[in-house]
Amino acid sequence: MKNLLGALTVAGAVLTVFVTDHAAKAQADAHAPSQVQLAATPPMGWNSWNKFACNVSEQLIRETADAIVSSGMKAAGYQYVNVDDCWQVSRNADGSIVADPKRFPSGMKALADYVHSKSLKFGLYTDAGRMTCQKRPGSFEHEVQDAQTYAAWGVDYVKIDWCYAEGLDPEVQYAKFRDALAHSGRPIVLSICNWGVKAPWQWAPRNGNLWRTTGDINDTYDRMSVIGFSQNGLEKFAGPGHWNDPDMLEVGNGRMKHDEYLTHMSLWALLAAPLLAGNDVRTMDSETKAILTNSEVIAVDQDPKGVQGHRVWDEGPLEVWARPLADGSYAVGLFNRGESQLPITVRFQMLGFSGTGRLRDLWTHQDLAPQENSYTATVPKHGTVMLKVSQH
Ligand code: GAL
Repeated sequence: MKNLLGALTVAGAVLTVFVTDHAAKAQADAHAPSQVQLAATPPMGWNSWNKFACNVSEQLIRETADAIVSSGMKAAGYQYVNVDDCWQVSRNADGSIVADPKRFPSGMKALADYVHSKSLKFGLYTDAGRMTCQKRPGSFEHEVQDAQTYAAWGVDYVKIDWCYAEGLDPEVQYAKFRDALAHSGRPIVLSICNWGVKAPWQWAPRNGNLWRTTGDINDTYDRMSVIGFSQNGLEKFAGPGHWNDPDMLEVGNGRMKHDEYLTHMSLWALLAAPLLAGNDVRTMDSETKAILTNSEVIAVDQDPKGVQGHRVWDEGPLEVWARPLADGSYAVGLFNRGESQLPITVRFQMLGFSGTGRLRDLWTHQDLAPQENSYTATVPKHGTVMLKVSQH
């Protein structure tokens, strides 16, 4: 009896060591150089949901990939072509996930190959619960099998939603995916989409490369601005390899004004947000293309220092946000959330220096005259002036 107890104790100790080691390794995995490299800067690409919802097909995805190249979006940095909900219809007898044969007759592997032939990357959507939000099969209890399927198809990015997940713990479920993807043999970006439930910024940096912080965006100034301006305070949780995700872009979907879309893009760049275009890139007009591909605004989003911006001043409807950049300068947004044009001043003290500042307008690509201690711009209703400010 004594011997048996001794053996059990030893076995228990061994087990404890194994479990602890395993947990430590899993945590370490999330921060392994390869994981960080997967999203060293916020992912950029396109996603079908905001414009097309369930109306997805291989033809749409192929044409979109073509347009991302021909429009100059690829050259501007957009690389993921992501199919959202509704591509999947059922599971085979062996449990493997089945793509809709009517909408994707050539299958997902062929579609991934096509996207890769354009030197772009391919993403898919699933759900950590029993069904997706549109009631397609979820990945619950199929995490390993689905990760292997995605790897075999050549998937580079998986967005994992949180519908029909009653009674489940997101931290536990997303860790299962993290481990399943880590063992799939293919580097795959993990995009956590649980709408901020259980404060994902507290645990998601260990479990994925990006995590949604709120419910869904829509193509209105009210919703976009409520989401964007509510991100203040989350900046400490983001960095290379792991990003807050205030949801995908609505730029070009038609229900916001030009100044409002400029605000959307400026704010997302200051927030180091993933830039997933959500419009029809096959038919976008030159105004939309100019917003989505502005190189100096994108450079802010993709700044290698990877520090998310935050609010440095506000008064009534006026806000100034700043983001420190790798070259020692600051990206600065002057935001007017009010209903009429108003002047907004950035005092360089808000950025931590005094004296002469050099300024550049990032939307117009123009250097401004050097200023002493502050700069004031007139900002239109719902609009933004986006600057780069450096100490002289
Ligand atoms: C929501 C998600 C959206 C979209 C949609 C698809 O939960 O936040 O971004 O993926 O599901 O059904």
